Amino acid sequence: MRRSGKSKAEVERSTGATIGAFDASFDVNRGEIFVIIGLSGSGKSTILRTINRLNEPTEGTIHLDGEDVLAMSTKQLRQLRRKKIGMVFQQFGLLPNRTVQDNVTFGLEVQGVGAEKRRKAGQEALGLVGLQGQGDKLITELSGGMQQRVGLARALATEQEILLMDEPFSALDPLIRRDMQNLFLSIQGEVKRTVVFVTHDLDEALTLGHRVAIMKDGEIVQLGTPEQILREPANEYVERFVEDVDYAKVRTAQTVMVPVNEVAYINDGPTVVLRRMRQFGLDFIPVVDEERRFLGTAEAEEVARLAERNERELGSSVDREAAKVGRDTSLREILPLFVERDVPVAVVDDENRIEGVVYRGSLIAGLTTSQESPDESESFDREVPQENAPNGANSGDRVRVRRIGE
Ligand SMILES: Nc1ncnc2c1ncn2[C@@H]1O[C@H](COP(=O)(O)OP(=O)(O)OP(=O)(O)O)[C@@H](O)[C@H]1O
Ligand SMILES: [Mg+2]
Repeated sequence: MRRSGKSKAEVERSTGATIGAFDASFDVNRGEIFVIIGLSGSGKSTILRTINRLNEPTEGTIHLDGEDVLAMSTKQLRQLRRKKIGMVFQQFGLLPNRTVQDNVTFGLEVQGVGAEKRRKAGQEALGLVGLQGQGDKLITELSGGMQQRVGLARALATEQEILLMDEPFSALDPLIRRDMQNLFLSIQGEVKRTVVFVTHDLDEALTLGHRVAIMKDGEIVQLGTPEQILREPANEYVERFVEDVDYAKVRTAQTVMVPVNEVAYINDGPTVVLRRMRQFGLDFIPVVDEERRFLGTAEAEEVARLAERNERELGSSVDREAAKVGRDTSLREILPLFVERDVPVAVVDDENRIEGVVYRGSLIAGLTTSQESPDESESFDREVPQENAPNGANSGDRVRVRRIGE
């Protein structure tokens, strides 16, 4: 009936049966946090529980590493849930009469892991969530927030590479909840599980998710990165969903940075650099080494002082404490860097190569406007091939900069 155009509500009215999920297809990449979001009753839990076949789908397919999950025997399924796919529920299901340590390693115990190995894994996991040394306490001796962290530690102590999490933080008060999200992200950065995370909180979805699927009436109405969902809401439903998002949390350096056209090389002389800065009206210039690795920022005034004194080297004008961030740093984290000083913040890649700079103005614009200016994204697009180009591109770039300066 749904396929022939009847709505979920109509199907329910005329048959008394519910469509839990329909036409909800997606892939999850290894190491990804994939978030499913939607209003109550939209089918999030249904989908999540279908992944490890706690729900039997009436049609469709589920593949895991190329294996057909629907074709598995009961025994294979049991193995799958024990060894490969872990599940975390809202309440975490801690056992009050056991110690913290025993709770954390409960999953391993079920898996038949030996005592010594369990102890080690448990301590490690407790360390990850900031509860080292608390293993011998009883669960009831901990605060609610600490108990949540025990639950998270337990999920992390297992060796299952896939975690299905159904609103694990929803019972927490907002402050603890944010702590848990940050904690979860920093741990995930280390352990790199593949996570499918269900929530009905959009901020949480956009903060945690590499990609987010938005569900409505059992169907996926949009699937994309947080940026895509904010920038191009697929329809009015999604638009309404994203209306009051806090841009500080979800926008990153990448969206507000300005590509760097002029850099100074550390071996350049102050007079040459000063001339170039004047030519382009720059108050600041990023200083890099031969490999275009960011060393610091030089201020025009300082460079001028060196030039006046006929110094040969730029070195002492370089502020080596100048702030730098990665492409994925949120605007929320960048904002404080401008509180004391109005010095542009460098954006660098994993190898510390300069990619762009964030000015106070572009940061404020990023915090307050819902759409980027086309110019910005255009210049960003132009930067991308450069970043991916082999090393030769850097020297080419350097030649270009020199020519302009002369
Ligand atoms: N055990 C069940 N038996 C019958 N219908 C169910 C059952 N569980 C869920 N449903 C129905 O399936 C649909 C999807 O429910 P589901 O639990 O997946 O929603 P959800 O998005 O997880 O909601 P919530 O945010 O409230 O947890 C709803 O219409 C619900 O009424
Ligand atoms: Mg649910």
